[in-house]
Amino acid sequence: MSGATPGPADKTDSEYLKSSNYSGFRLEATWKPTVMVRGEGMYLEDAQGNRYLDFSAQPAAVNLGHNNRHVIEAIKNQADRLAYVGVGFGTDVRAEFSHKLAEVLPDNLTKYNFSNSGSEANEAAVKMVRTYFQREGRTKIISRYNSFHGWTAATTQLTGGPRRFVAETTGAYPGVVHVPDPYCYRCPFGLKYPECGVACAEYIDYAIKNEGNIGAVILEPVTGASGVVVPPKEYLPRVRQITEENGAFLIADEILCGWGRTGEWFAVDNWGVKPDIMTTAKGITGGQFPLSLTATNRTIADYFEENWLPVSGTFSAHPLGMAAGIAAIEEYQRQNLIPRARELGVHLGKRLEELKSRHPSVGDVRGLGLLWALELVKNKRTKAPFNTPDDYLHGRPLMIQKVASKMMSMGFFVYSGVVSHLIVSPPLIISEAQVDAAVEAMDEALKVSDQEADREN
Ligand SMILES: Cc1ncc(COP(=O)(O)O)c(C=O)c1O
Repeated sequence: MSGATPGPADKTDSEYLKSSNYSGFRLEATWKPTVMVRGEGMYLEDAQGNRYLDFSAQPAAVNLGHNNRHVIEAIKNQADRLAYVGVGFGTDVRAEFSHKLAEVLPDNLTKYNFSNSGSEANEAAVKMVRTYFQREGRTKIISRYNSFHGWTAATTQLTGGPRRFVAETTGAYPGVVHVPDPYCYRCPFGLKYPECGVACAEYIDYAIKNEGNIGAVILEPVTGASGVVVPPKEYLPRVRQITEENGAFLIADEILCGWGRTGEWFAVDNWGVKPDIMTTAKGITGGQFPLSLTATNRTIADYFEENWLPVSGTFSAHPLGMAAGIAAIEEYQRQNLIPRARELGVHLGKRLEELKSRHPSVGDVRGLGLLWALELVKNKRTKAPFNTPDDYLHGRPLMIQKVASKMMSMGFFVYSGVVSHLIVSPPLIISEAQVDAAVEAMDEALKVSDQEADREN
């Protein structure tokens, strides 16, 4: 077999890059990458010198903006001093970072495992649960349909959305049970809040009891790329109560919704809920270094004092990640970004609601803090979507992608979710004027979807 197709020896040429690289989560033939060469604050710059305001912090990762100087200096200084040592050794930065984490995490999460991606953090979480309960045989995990938990074998199976469909024939990770979401716009039970009695939470009690051997429930407290589902206020406290009553662990996947994104350090803080395990990544270093965390409570920590812990890797607790993590927390605190996200989120939400009232193709707008989704629909009354999971998996152009491309042509990046949502999740440093400029661009770009929406409403 020959290697990559030879192309022009121009490393900023998108076709040249594409000939030798996979993108993933798409049909590769549909990948038309814009080659980026620089980032600063709210902006990215491509090889042709075009600048883009990043309205989504990439996939909700660059919470401190691009190239945060304090984080980058911390990585450089650490690299000069001790760039790498294996996870079995301790480092001063690891101790310092853990101490800082304890300041901001829910106070019951006191012991930490570091890995390199959100997927690995969730892998570690479910492995810990299954190990903990293995003698009792309580190895099944409940997850939700509108969810994404990662791209590895286990986390693909945990994922509820279409990114699971293509992979699960492998049967790589049995024992995952999916349950309906608190998705009020399209309530899976056909009910209305609050008369519903939050049936989606009660269903979890039913599922645990009927499955019989559930070790944990994993959920995104505020769903990310699968549609920014913000639960009703009773939901998370009730799920916490249900898991406790049934002796199952609660795993909060805060890989996307953590780190100030929802206007609190972590999304669970909005409801005062303390999970048994929290996983997080992305904003942990402001997206400047690959790092993830699986934080556990004391019960789990105590168990592994005398039982084999089946997690760890060559780059776990990498000193550069530890240094980046310390600097990131310092930046969230110094710039007061958490309360700022909460306050600016009110303005952002108001501006996005205005779009909904003006555009026939915007069916729903929902969010919290600086994490929002616009759900596009072909028909506002029937809520008929433009696209289906099947379109997504077969590489047919999605309406959200058309709107996002229009935004890009106007100098704004917005993240396309799965399958009908645009995800608005800017760096927490965004100014009010930049919010307004991006919303105005969106107002224009949504004409693309309006043209194909039914006008009966
Ligand atoms: C909620 C959630 N969980 C898990 C992951 C997987 O993280 P990673 O891409 O770092 O493996 C993601 C990534 O987008 C995510 O949004």
